[in-house]
Amino acid sequence: MTPLTQMPEWQALADQRQALAGRHLNQLFAADPQRFSRLSLRWGELLADFSRQRLTAETLGLLVSLAEARDLAGFLRRMTAGEAINATENRAALHIALRAEQPYRVTGRDVLPEVRATQARMRELSEAIRSGAWHGSGGAPIEAVVNLGIGGSDLGPRMAVQALGEYADPQRAVRFVANIDPAEFADTVRDLDPKRTLFIVSSKTFTTQETLANARAARAWLGDADPSRHFLAVSNNLAAAQAFGIPAQNCLAMAEWVGGRFSMWSAIGLPLACSIGMDAFEDLLAGAREMDEHFLSAPYAENLPVLMALVGLWNIDFLGAESLAVIPYAHRLGLLPAYLQQLEMESNGKRVTLDNREVGCATAPILWGMAGSVGQHAFHQLFYQGTRLTPIDFIVPVGDASPEQEALVANALAQGAALMKGKSLEEARSQLLAAGKSPAEAAHLAPHLACPGNQPSTTLLMSSLTPRLLGSLIALYEHKVTVQGCLWGINSFDQWGVEHGKQMAREILPGMLSGKGEFDSSTAGLLAAIRAWRKPRAG
Ligand code: F6P
Repeated sequence: MTPLTQMPEWQALADQRQALAGRHLNQLFAADPQRFSRLSLRWGELLADFSRQRLTAETLGLLVSLAEARDLAGFLRRMTAGEAINATENRAALHIALRAEQPYRVTGRDVLPEVRATQARMRELSEAIRSGAWHGSGGAPIEAVVNLGIGGSDLGPRMAVQALGEYADPQRAVRFVANIDPAEFADTVRDLDPKRTLFIVSSKTFTTQETLANARAARAWLGDADPSRHFLAVSNNLAAAQAFGIPAQNCLAMAEWVGGRFSMWSAIGLPLACSIGMDAFEDLLAGAREMDEHFLSAPYAENLPVLMALVGLWNIDFLGAESLAVIPYAHRLGLLPAYLQQLEMESNGKRVTLDNREVGCATAPILWGMAGSVGQHAFHQLFYQGTRLTPIDFIVPVGDASPEQEALVANALAQGAALMKGKSLEEARSQLLAAGKSPAEAAHLAPHLACPGNQPSTTLLMSSLTPRLLGSLIALYEHKVTVQGCLWGINSFDQWGVEHGKQMAREILPGMLSGKGEFDSSTAGLLAAIRAWRKPRAG
């Protein structure tokens, strides 16, 4: 395959960058009164406005041509046929089958029956817990569900439980512990009663150090409680879950063809089902399925995930953006940036293509963010007057027409508009004069008030924050990641870098305990300082 950066379509985009260089977003709007309608897309109850991106309809056309030339359609055909597109692990990546109503095959086998069977089990368990029928070993109903998992076995359900707090069962707390730092476990269970607490050990591999440490902490905290009343497991390694002491009837299977960061639709979503109920969880699946259908059928120029991916690639590879800020204007979506961090950065933080070449261009952005309007009072200053290009995704659930909600939505719209428009030196000077400054003072201060504007952003409106629309939103970002990975020619579905870090942690731990081992001089020096500070343990 021709390297991406040597393709004529890539060169055409480089020329396009030259053609648009120096053109401010204000000029692009002035030149085209139809810019919003040309560069925004409404899909059901979502609307994406790309008009504040530094591109034109012509740019989008060139990006679409790149997607065609990279045979995105062929890649998606292989993905939906259950082929091992995760080539380095020889696995399919078929998370869309988790929300499908049609059969999908992996190595010739229809996986729909197993998906349905797991969903039925999730319904039984979540209903037993929510109705109070599931009793702890002392005979009292379960009042708190605590998920023990990390990465993809934590971030999705944790984010969604918070996002859908409005739908939560007020009788039951659903909490999450991920960190190997025992403080998180201690803080999470401090006010809970072991006799009324149920743990879900969520781990695809059931070998993850953090999760196993927390599962052991839970076992110790439960004391003599019967594990069969207080532990469930979700894993692809059911033998290990059972060896840990969780009986087979309490274990839910997770398929090999589901990657951790794409797994919130699987039994990994059980904590969410416990919080919002299985009917609402099925609404979430339906929303994702609707997005899948759109993604797999709409022409690229009208395809929300494809356009999101192409706009992102343009910003990264042609405008040189290093990061992507995701700012949801909804307190309950506060964990969305953390969730998307894993989705985008673990998937596409890669440098080698599937045909073993250097990719030759930048890949995943550094994704970060927090809920608006809080971030406005922290880091938006850098957007307005800093030296970096920082594209932003504003995610705005419109919600009701209460004055408070109107103020939130108005803030979101104002940020996008102000960052685009900026404030000229002349405007700054007039503002200062109107505030009573002398002409000399105004001239001196104006450069400090002026903002260049031209900061690119996408505004994604959703009518409200419902399970269905949350499902569509998450599936949208999943497909964006898949499209970008396909265009860059990398494998979005493995994570060998993380494995390297895990291996190093396994090597350092024995050295730390024993004081022996071969380490680089920095690690050895740090270990020596740690040992010197450590107080010997009592006993
Ligand atoms: O951090 C790497 C990773 O492998 C993620 O991809 C995964 O979601 C997480 O660890 C947890 O893995 P597991 O579900 O196997 O415990």
